[in-house]
Amino acid sequence: MRFFVDTANIEDIKSAFDLGIISGVTTNPVIIQREGTYDIKGQIAKIRAVCDGEIFTQVLGGTSGEMIEQARFIWSWDKNITVKIPLNIEGIKAVSRLSKEGIRTCTTIVYTAAQAMAAALAGASYAALFVNRSNAEGRDGFEFVETVTELYRKNDIKTQVLAASVNTPMDVVRVALAGVHVVTAPYRTWEDMIKNRSTDDTLESFLADWKGRTI
Ligand code: E4P
Repeated sequence: MRFFVDTANIEDIKSAFDLGIISGVTTNPVIIQREGTYDIKGQIAKIRAVCDGEIFTQVLGGTSGEMIEQARFIWSWDKNITVKIPLNIEGIKAVSRLSKEGIRTCTTIVYTAAQAMAAALAGASYAALFVNRSNAEGRDGFEFVETVTELYRKNDIKTQVLAASVNTPMDVVRVALAGVHVVTAPYRTWEDMIKNRSTDDTLESFLADWKGRTI
């Protein structure tokens, strides 16, 4: 299992990689825009300057032709990039073509197990399942992740399950229990996963009589 940070914020990416447990970065158009820019290539270059992990960036096109052209352009920047393609009719056509060209893709905005099957058959390297956005619609995002993970396993599918739209440490635990390959979450989620008040209090009590001393 791998953990990715879901942000285009350079400070958060640096902090995330400093932890040593994060190996990739996922972005989407909103995440890029949050950094005050519409220059996707420029922002990805800034991200690459501070981390050597896999970077996910999304196409903007609406037709398969536009998606394919943009994916080829993105792929030309850096080979440790994965191109995110929305899971709709045009997206599936684009992923089918791009996978034959050896371009690594992640079908994104996946809300159903049936869509995840289409992603696999099109040859996507990843399927990004939107967990909390499914929960927000009144469906069980965790059950969804379990179903897709099981479905891929039973059918010996190589597409990796990427649990996205994940926000809390318990979300991470639940999708990890389902056996996902990757979890992506904002930097604060990874910090929250590590920090614990009882750990801090216990540590303080252990060190109470050691002030000013060293090993
Ligand atoms: C994943 O790749 C998406 O960019 C992201 O996880 C969506 O998360 P949100 O539902 O918190 O916007």
